[in-house]
Amino acid sequence: MARSRSSAKKKKKSVLKKVIDFFVKSEYHAYLVGGYVRDSTLGRESVDFDIVVEGDGIRIARQLNSKLKGKLTSHAEFGTASICINSHRVDLASARAEKYTSPAHLPHVYPSTIVEDLNRRDFTINAIAMSISKENFGEIFDPFEGLSDIKKKLIRILHKQSFMDDPTRIFRALRYKNRFGFKMEDDTERLMQEAIRKGMVERLTGQRVLNELQLIFDEDTYPDTIEDLAYYGVFNLKRNDLRLMPSSNDHAFYFLLSKLAKNTLPLTKDTQKIVDDFRNLPKVIAKLNKASAHSTIFGILSPLSSEAAEAISLIKPELSEKTKTYQTLRKVKPFITGKDLRKYGFKPNRQYDRILTKIFNMQLDKKIMNRKQALAYLNTAKKK
Ligand code: CTP
Repeated sequence: MARSRSSAKKKKKSVLKKVIDFFVKSEYHAYLVGGYVRDSTLGRESVDFDIVVEGDGIRIARQLNSKLKGKLTSHAEFGTASICINSHRVDLASARAEKYTSPAHLPHVYPSTIVEDLNRRDFTINAIAMSISKENFGEIFDPFEGLSDIKKKLIRILHKQSFMDDPTRIFRALRYKNRFGFKMEDDTERLMQEAIRKGMVERLTGQRVLNELQLIFDEDTYPDTIEDLAYYGVFNLKRNDLRLMPSSNDHAFYFLLSKLAKNTLPLTKDTQKIVDDFRNLPKVIAKLNKASAHSTIFGILSPLSSEAAEAISLIKPELSEKTKTYQTLRKVKPFITGKDLRKYGFKPNRQYDRILTKIFNMQLDKKIMNRKQALAYLNTAKKK
């Protein structure tokens, strides 16, 4: 993010202040919930504000946005709306309760009061609300003693079924644990392990798993969270599988995807290619270890996506000379092209590609130093 912390802070105050002013002057029952309340208790900044209103969230969001003048998006099916303004997001939701009709599937949602709304949430630390209404401004609703858990640095679920209802909470629990340096409360940890053992992660759609993985890799503490996934046996990952994880979020993300069962996630064609390349990296690294000729290095690395090629020196720093060499070789312009071959009467076929590659390899290995020598070689090849 390019903006400075101090300007973000100033803007945050003004956005939050406008939100609060709007509700204090209205008749609505509104509450700040979730991340903002948790983070301000922890003394951490947050730029997103979750607000729950008792009433029609979308209609109220429209009225609020006439003051904020941000970009409003609403989701009628969930009764929620988001306002984006100055790199802040204000999420408004109608207080709602949820009924899980089948495990690991999205719940049925119905209108409720703030206390019922808090009941449907993931962890005690996220189930705290602060009123921003005129009549009880500042009143805290903390039915699950989330404030005390924040003090004790504990991640605790609200009820026994929580991970079964929504197994994405397994990923969320580990992400919060590492982000805040908290511990899992004993029963929570046991119930999480039970949900993993019962295969609840496998019952999630690939898209929901992918979203959770992206959120994990957006955080600096992703190595700890991935270690935890392996420790608890999520995806049947083993700690040993993580041995060659590259030290950068983006590359580590592809690396992890390459360790998961094939075809379980909805990947685009480009991402699938990158992930397949990561799956092949141990073989590529073994070949690269032995390679010395420039043409061999080029032949090994050029079929790879740039992400996979970059990952090699992160995984094996001793190979960075060779990957640097490859970056230079990529810029080499061939002395001759297909056009020359056609001029010399070659027909486009497999032999045609082979000759082009052969001449380019000789050029990379400095066995041919200029176009004249390349054309001379072509002439002799034609006579054969
Ligand atoms: N929530 C939940 N179960 C989920 C996802 C979200 O109960 N599977 C609730 C939590 O109360 C959470 C709130 O919805 O606090 C908002 O979710 P989200 O934006 O994902 O989390 P934040 O608390 O804002 O935390 P973060 O800092 O990670 O954005």
